[in-house]
Amino acid sequence: MKKTWWKEAVVYQIYTRSFKDISGDGVGDLNGVTEKLDYLQELGIDIIWLCPMYKSPNVDNGYDVSDYRGIMDEMGTMDDFDHMLEQIHARGMKLILDLVLNHTSDQHPWFLESKSSKDNPKRDWYIWRDKPTNWESIFGGPAWTFDPKTNQYYLHLYTKNQVDLNWENPEVRHELYDMIRWWIEKGVDGFRVDAINHLKKDFTDMPNPEGRNYVPAWEKMTNVEGIQDFLEELRDEVFSKYDIVTVGEANSVKAHELAEWISEDEGKFNMIFHLEAHENWNPELDADYNVMTLKKVLDRWQKSAHGIAWNSLYLENHDRPRTVSTWGDDKHYWRESATALACMYFFMQGTPFIYQGQEIGMTNAPFDDIKMYRDVETKNLYRYNRLNGVSHEEIMQMIKKNSRDHARTPMQWHSGKNAGFTAGEPWISLNPNYQWLNVEAQEKDEQSILSFYKKMIALRKGNECLLYGSTELAETDCPDVYAYIREFKNLRILVVSHLDKDGCYWSLREKGKLLLSNYTVFKDKKLQPYEARVYLLE
Ligand code: GLC
Repeated sequence: MKKTWWKEAVVYQIYTRSFKDISGDGVGDLNGVTEKLDYLQELGIDIIWLCPMYKSPNVDNGYDVSDYRGIMDEMGTMDDFDHMLEQIHARGMKLILDLVLNHTSDQHPWFLESKSSKDNPKRDWYIWRDKPTNWESIFGGPAWTFDPKTNQYYLHLYTKNQVDLNWENPEVRHELYDMIRWWIEKGVDGFRVDAINHLKKDFTDMPNPEGRNYVPAWEKMTNVEGIQDFLEELRDEVFSKYDIVTVGEANSVKAHELAEWISEDEGKFNMIFHLEAHENWNPELDADYNVMTLKKVLDRWQKSAHGIAWNSLYLENHDRPRTVSTWGDDKHYWRESATALACMYFFMQGTPFIYQGQEIGMTNAPFDDIKMYRDVETKNLYRYNRLNGVSHEEIMQMIKKNSRDHARTPMQWHSGKNAGFTAGEPWISLNPNYQWLNVEAQEKDEQSILSFYKKMIALRKGNECLLYGSTELAETDCPDVYAYIREFKNLRILVVSHLDKDGCYWSLREKGKLLLSNYTVFKDKKLQPYEARVYLLE
């Protein structure tokens, strides 16, 4: 595989709103990011991915952009942005932005024009119909909203305030390309491209045998035939002209389809986020987390990509609950399970992403009251399920497992007021465990989750075997042990993560030198609960 800077990098995702607030308004800001750059540098981060900081009414926390070339008031000014970028570059780090291309806010001037009359030149920039299809929106409720002024419906796959752009219209596409070039020329180093597999739609009704008002319509709005043409144009007109890195958010893409998305020959992005591993354990569906299936899925992606494509590696992001609370055990084996899960994903082939707070093992929020939740998806889930007669208790159970807000509580810097996140009133409550679970406490502790992340990053850096080697699953005789061998030239590295609490006999049949582990005392023949080790094999 060709060697490139972004393959050897470690990326840190910042949910800007919840990272660090300097202005005191309770919302994280760009100056807050600048202030914490030394922390990130010390951790070993090479690339920062910043969640949306564009002007936005914040119905979906910035994923509803009203001005692509302006900074959200709560997060600062363009000068703050320029200063932040300069400081990132001064430390030898890079910055990637979140590009929201599928939809804009309903407050975007383009949409205000589009809805003003049927013959407005921007009418066709969005998707208007006399008769809507019967689709449900991804966040619940109908996917079409009626506009009484012009007597037509407009399409929104997410909330009614996130209006889908009409990608069939070349003017729209070229306007977006200009905007992307503008940011690249400002100096940003790449993009995470939001909800990219919804650009193309198949405007036909879903079967509706039960006669519902609207029906989930995933296949009509996701990876629809023809989408690759749009992505190809985006690559050829913009992305391929610069030395940047691109990551597409592409759920529902399967390992056997990855070539057209990310292969070095025909891919449209450098990497994608596939959600297959997470989709298998959607807590909403109450499916049990199962290490055997996890191995099967992740190994399939490793094998399919090897030699033809590169991919992203991640455990968490701003759309999912915290893994230490779902796949791990945040009560009895908090430190052990957070580090074992980390070890499991971090040394595969690909570019690892760390979501803010993951590196200190932040946990799901213990919010019992629906009023404590802020996320529009969570609120809609509550509203629509109540309308459908589901009990309050039942919905709260789902939310307590699955709300996106679990990942969005403020970053826990220290044990003082508001965990050092803000001097003001935080926009969302803190997780009260910040009293003991915080960066400051872990910085002093050699055995902390944070220290483990630092060691993992240091170990991966410059290690050709861990960067470019092949990946083979290793047999361990234990269903809950995830073990694999990376191999490159004459080097072999074994990564073993026991992802359960019940001890398991372990059969390392070869000799090796221990490079990393999350326990200090070993029981030779037995892997302890959530024990993880990395060996250089002889
Ligand atoms: C992506 C984002 C999510 C957002 C949605 C709509 O999935 O990650 O946070 O709500 O797109 O833009």
